[in-house]
Amino acid sequence: MITRNDLCWCKSGKKWKKCCWPNTNKDLNNDKLRERYKKQYQILIKTQDQIDGIRKSCKLAASMLKKSCSMAKEGVTTNEINDFVVSLHKEANAIPAPLGYGDPPFPKAICTSLNDVICHGIPDNIKLKNGDIVNIDITCILNGYYGDCSAMVAIGEISPDKQLVINTSYQCLMNAIDILKPGIMISDIGDIIESYAEKQGCSVVTQFVGHGVGIQFHEAPQVPHHYNNINIPIVEGMTFTIEPMINAGVSEGYIDTKNNWTARTLDGKPSAQWEHTLLITPNGHEILTTA
Ligand code: MF3
Ligand code: CO
Ligand code: CO
Repeated sequence: MITRNDLCWCKSGKKWKKCCWPNTNKDLNNDKLRERYKKQYQILIKTQDQIDGIRKSCKLAASMLKKSCSMAKEGVTTNEINDFVVSLHKEANAIPAPLGYGDPPFPKAICTSLNDVICHGIPDNIKLKNGDIVNIDITCILNGYYGDCSAMVAIGEISPDKQLVINTSYQCLMNAIDILKPGIMISDIGDIIESYAEKQGCSVVTQFVGHGVGIQFHEAPQVPHHYNNINIPIVEGMTFTIEPMINAGVSEGYIDTKNNWTARTLDGKPSAQWEHTLLITPNGHEILTTA
């Protein structure tokens, strides 16, 4: 691992701390750093204009998420929530990013993941019922910029293991956000999340990860929620998600062969997830997906 006193990776011959070390408040306008991150890691360090666009998109995603969560009640179908979110996108002149995304093309505008579904649940005509937990995941495109967030809703009375995964995944996300600032490593995020999940007796999904976001849906870097050794220093102007998926039982999942999207826990036990899009600022971070 490179330390502050080693020669800089940009081959300037200067020490890293005197050269491209990220904690300088100038990263946003540092073209050399931007080039380096693109070449070495395929990471897009955003410009001020891009950040302003991404912030607007994230605000919209968060406000749509808030409205759709308050609609999630016993007797409502996930298709009804999906259609409501489609209408909100139309009102805002935005596009739902999931619709038609990937291969096979994702068939709906949002993901709705119930109970043992880890992620990528597809809205359908089944009514939400007492005891369900559901994750609603919304990604919108506004003026070409992406905002991505998700949250959990409990329907009526839920079991203790469902409450545990909801609380643990939320706390994992917030603990990870707390440490975000220029100079920390991508791997620090997984350390914080997995160590907390372990303490709560939960497991961390490794199959799906957070991701750079903003100019595209899924950009570099991958942001694992488990222990890892991705020694990429986080710098000002990066925008990425953290979206820990936390299971009550085993961490492994499988993809439903009926649709090639929906991921379920191998043991059928509950899973929960919360997601924010984050911006790295000169001295810390900003949660972009706040309504
Ligand atoms: N919104 C999800 C994420 O957090 C991705 C969903 S992909 C889709 O990355 F195609 F299912 F929409
Ligand atoms: Co995401
Ligand atoms: Co998402």
